[in-house]
Amino acid sequence: MYLKIPLTLSILLILTSNTEANVQIFKQWQQMDYYFPSPAIRQQAINSGNYVPENIIPIDVSVDYRDTTRVFITMPRFTTGVPASLGYTKSSSTYSIIPYPSYDWHSSHGKNCEGITSVFRVAYDGCNQMWVLDTGKIGDIQYCQPQLLIFNLITDKLVKRYRFNRNMYVDTSLFVTPILDVADPGRCTKVKAYIADVTGFGLVVYDLEYNKAWRINNKLLYPYPNYGKFTIAGESFDLMDGLLAMTITKAPLRQDTERSLLFHALASATENSVPLRIINNATIWENDANAMPDEFKVIGTRGIQTGAQAMDKNGNLFFVLLNPLAIVCWDSSTSYKTDNIKILYRNDETLQFASGMKVVTNLSGEEELWLVTNRLQKYMSGSTNLSETNFRILVASIRSLLNFKDKCNGSSLRNDQTIVFPDRNSI
Ligand SMILES: *[C@@H]1O[C@H](CO)[C@@H](O)[C@H](O)[C@H]1NC(C)=O
Ligand SMILES: *[C@@H]1O[C@H](CO)[C@@H](O)[C@H](O)[C@H]1NC(C)=O
Ligand SMILES: *[C@@H]1O[C@H](CO)[C@@H](O)[C@H](O)[C@H]1NC(C)=O
Ligand SMILES: *[C@@H]1O[C@H](CO)[C@@H](O)[C@H](O)[C@H]1NC(C)=O
Repeated sequence: MYLKIPLTLSILLILTSNTEANVQIFKQWQQMDYYFPSPAIRQQAINSGNYVPENIIPIDVSVDYRDTTRVFITMPRFTTGVPASLGYTKSSSTYSIIPYPSYDWHSSHGKNCEGITSVFRVAYDGCNQMWVLDTGKIGDIQYCQPQLLIFNLITDKLVKRYRFNRNMYVDTSLFVTPILDVADPGRCTKVKAYIADVTGFGLVVYDLEYNKAWRINNKLLYPYPNYGKFTIAGESFDLMDGLLAMTITKAPLRQDTERSLLFHALASATENSVPLRIINNATIWENDANAMPDEFKVIGTRGIQTGAQAMDKNGNLFFVLLNPLAIVCWDSSTSYKTDNIKILYRNDETLQFASGMKVVTNLSGEEELWLVTNRLQKYMSGSTNLSETNFRILVASIRSLLNFKDKCNGSSLRNDQTIVFPDRNSI
């Protein structure tokens, strides 16, 4: 009833260009559109400035594979005009976003802290639960405390809320990414959430079992000025974003003897690690948030920025480079360097800024890579053209991406002569 987008744009189609890798567009949009409870409420949202399509940009994706598949998508409130910050779409049958868990949860626009204010990313714990990280902010205004919300995806009921105390965040904080480590799979009572504070330059750990959180500072959580300029498809913007992407290693990394958190700042060209044993020990951080600086290590450099990342069950890490616009992989049992980063799939159009990425196991037990791309460069410069395709959800079978091998392989990034690194001599 509220369709504005030509149907043809939303129909699942298969890309055949550039590669044999079977990367499909699950859905694409010129602008984000929502199902409102009624036409009157939709009109009211438009009239009151609470629905401004130019202001809405999708950031993350998550998939709830059950009898009816729901593909969740986040739309943070960088500014006003976003009717709902979290919603879902069902495979190819619906074209608009259905607010989650309901429109009412999103409609106070900062006035009601029992609801949801702004969500960048979500995480799935394997127990039919989705963890929603809410910044509590609209633009620069902190309306509510940041919070973690856990929803049961079968009942769609809130099962847990944790509000972060004032000493867990600073004025510039923005809690953008939650990554989960579940010690008791299938029960999910012993879960730790690692949370990226992208502009407060911190890492926050939340322990579900003890219902408490602690904050960690380290220089590797900061942006690097030499990597503060982003050029995507020929357009540039400056962004000094710190810690953004994280992943937990499946097995000890090369030379390590234990599992670690891998992480990087957005404005950086390095990948870093810290043992979970260190960041999981609340005592250390409650005494000194700046403790153990030498436990945080640069593991290598890729020479260029990347956004989101995700790891499969065999320890292959996937991410998308800014240049070339390509899905690449790195086998985490090798050293992190451009020789070992392999190009799997290039597409200059559809990969324009991958801000959200997940490895999802489908109902046949096969792993899939899901990502959201959003032409961030256009949003940053205010030049988004709502008559063009701006936003895409992409999906690929990991087996086909890896050419039916267990380990990441393909042509090395090092051998790609078209890559111009922003600054070869600095990391
Ligand atoms: C946590 O760190 C403290 C201080 O370094 C240490 O004494 C304690 O044994 C550690 N606890 C665990 C469970 O590793
Ligand atoms: C927006 O995109 C449409 C379709 O590609 C194009 O015809 C139009 O000229 C563009 N508008 C601007 C202002 O670039
Ligand atoms: C799971 O993914 C594999 C590989 O892409 C595919 O062959 C299979 O049909 C998928 N299963 C379901 C239930 O979607
Ligand atoms: C990986 O790819 C390279 C070529 O890029 C090839 O020489 C090598 O045999 C491949 N390794 C495996 C294990 O397939």
